[in-house]
Amino acid sequence: MEKKVIVVTGGSSGIGLQTIGQLSANDNNQIISFSRSEEKIQKAKKVLGNKENVNYFMGDVTNEDDCRKFAEYVEKNYGKIHGLLNNAGVLTKGGMEMIDYETWKYNLNINLNGVYLFTRSLLPLLKKAQGASIVNVSSVAAMKPGSSIAYSVSKAGLDMLTEFLAGDLAPYKIRVNSVNPALVRTPIHMDNKIFENKEEYEELLRNAVERYPLKRIGEPEDIANLIEFLLSDKSSWITGSIMKIDGGAMINNDLIPPKDIE
Ligand SMILES: NC(=O)c1ccc[n+]([C@@H]2O[C@H](COP(=O)([O-])OP(=O)(O)OC[C@H]3O[C@@H](n4cnc5c(N)ncnc54)[C@H](OP(=O)(O)O)[C@@H]3O)[C@@H](O)[C@H]2O)c1
Repeated sequence: MEKKVIVVTGGSSGIGLQTIGQLSANDNNQIISFSRSEEKIQKAKKVLGNKENVNYFMGDVTNEDDCRKFAEYVEKNYGKIHGLLNNAGVLTKGGMEMIDYETWKYNLNINLNGVYLFTRSLLPLLKKAQGASIVNVSSVAAMKPGSSIAYSVSKAGLDMLTEFLAGDLAPYKIRVNSVNPALVRTPIHMDNKIFENKEEYEELLRNAVERYPLKRIGEPEDIANLIEFLLSDKSSWITGSIMKIDGGAMINNDLIPPKDIE
């Protein structure tokens, strides 16, 4: 049986790492993780254990040379790509007056331009699979302004890229969908210095629970389960979908009648 080759950007941490853990449980999947820091890759290897069906490639999704070299590496070793998870992302908090232009460009560059460049570099290999699936990791911040202007705008752009590519690539039987999580417990918030310290972060997580009708925030596994489905043939009639996954957070609670009204 032909192995299913799946590329995951940002596979060294959080949602990407969890997804690789789940996908690699199936020996028929061959996963290649693409991210920047060697240190995070080493940590990921410890978490996952030395699995034969997971390989790591060090690179930056915004760097044309890295993307070209990665495409050459995959072509030489695997020949084609059946699944692509564009998951790498960064988050810098603040509105227009809080962030400078460099910060704006940093977010837009990784979260939006990086997805465009990386996907474009791998397109010939995705076409070869004759039925590939691309999943972009966006956010509910694309749908309502959140705490970061650059992040929200980058993810809103990403959602349009998802819809556009779904039509653009359908003739090659390539499906393109997006998962849009609300708050998920991962290193992204501390690594990107969104909070002063761990206590402030833990307090936000405790308070956040109240805003979620299901009374909990997301765990990486919640998101990985949806991604697994979208990468699999079980979702073969789904393309161009923007799927929020948020424990009900985006429901307008004001419209739900109070419990004591019959
Ligand atoms: N956690 C949440 O609450 C939440 C909510 C909604 C959406 N999301 C989205 O989910 C995705 C994953 O986030 P996460 O929470 O799992 O974050 P995370 O734990 O910080 O993981 C981010 C991953 O992306 C990689 N990365 C960042 N910039 C990169 C670049 N330029 N090139 C290649 N790899 C890069 C990081 O590794 P290196 O730094 O080593 O490159 C890391 O492996 C992101 O797109 C994020 O916006 C997260």
